Amino acid sequence: MMRVGFTGWRGMVGSVLMQRMREERDFDHIEPVFFTTSQPGGKGPDVGREVPPLKDARELAELKAMDVIVSCQGGDYTTEIFPKLRAEGWAGHWIDAASTLRMEKDAVIILDPVNRNVIDQALDAGGKNWIGGNCTVSLMLMALGGLFRENLVDWATSMTYQAASGAGAQNMRELLKQMGEVHRVASDLLADPASAILDIDREVAGTLRDEKLPTAHFGVPLAGSLIPWIDKDLGNGQSKEEWKGAAETNKILGREASPTPIDGLCVRIGAMRCHSQALTLKLNKDVPLDEINSIIASANGWVKVVPNEREASMTQLTPAAVTGTLSVPVGRLRKMSMGPEYLSAFTVGDQLLWGAAEPLRRMLRILVE
Ligand code: HSE
Repeated sequence: MMRVGFTGWRGMVGSVLMQRMREERDFDHIEPVFFTTSQPGGKGPDVGREVPPLKDARELAELKAMDVIVSCQGGDYTTEIFPKLRAEGWAGHWIDAASTLRMEKDAVIILDPVNRNVIDQALDAGGKNWIGGNCTVSLMLMALGGLFRENLVDWATSMTYQAASGAGAQNMRELLKQMGEVHRVASDLLADPASAILDIDREVAGTLRDEKLPTAHFGVPLAGSLIPWIDKDLGNGQSKEEWKGAAETNKILGREASPTPIDGLCVRIGAMRCHSQALTLKLNKDVPLDEINSIIASANGWVKVVPNEREASMTQLTPAAVTGTLSVPVGRLRKMSMGPEYLSAFTVGDQLLWGAAEPLRRMLRILVE
């Protein structure tokens, strides 16, 4: 059995990974070893079998004894540890949730329902570095991979509605604190059916602009508002999150030599853990809508085409409906008024599952089988 070391398994993505691995009985197929940066010698997590005491995640000799290392520890850990391990000749497989190594030539961005061919080619060529993709990109490809597979996409633009979880666990807490504060200041007026809505609104607006509102993590209010910028400013008007759309999509699909143009605008909204995105796709020919629906639906076992109707869209195509599930619904599919090659789409996905943990555990299974 392969010895598989886990780091960062206690964090948010790591915890989702542990939960999914227990559900899928992945631990039956490996010999798990848990590492920690804070409590070496402590007790490992309950994974349904005996595990050795926690090992030190900075102890290279212990790490080098692993056949595979799965890291959810974050980018700083990868930057510190990964080069040292390789420099010492460690030839095991490195599976990582952090973005640090994503664009490296010898790394594959893993999303096997979409790019199993790219993964297999890299495996045949001796590839060892398997990196999870940006959540928004992975979820877009889980939803619309069929159109890319059929080479139908001339270009695409996505307008995103990204959840608090993409920014981290502390940000999710901050969103809820802000929501609670906004409700608190309005609650007396809200309880009085005769109160004026503009009085309520004045209280809410005052609270959102009050410097006492907790904003340490987002920097500004998100509850009752939105933030039209995610990640670093690249200095050319584009955010790093927006840059990833084209860079990672084309790397995932193995099309860096002739990339499909993809660009858009990334926005943080007050959802908990589901990213949504509205897309406009320019197809390279006029494909009938029923054919488009079947191409999209046939791409993998999790994408689900939602009829472009009011009731179905409101009940099935929302973060509230999708959160905590692996389902990737895509709907609002219609030809736009610009012409028969212009397709609109809206998709929702859980950014902690397909956007983070799920591709990692599936890559581990590919290595083990
Ligand atoms: N960068 C994403 C976000 C998170 O901020 O929502 C996961 O890739």
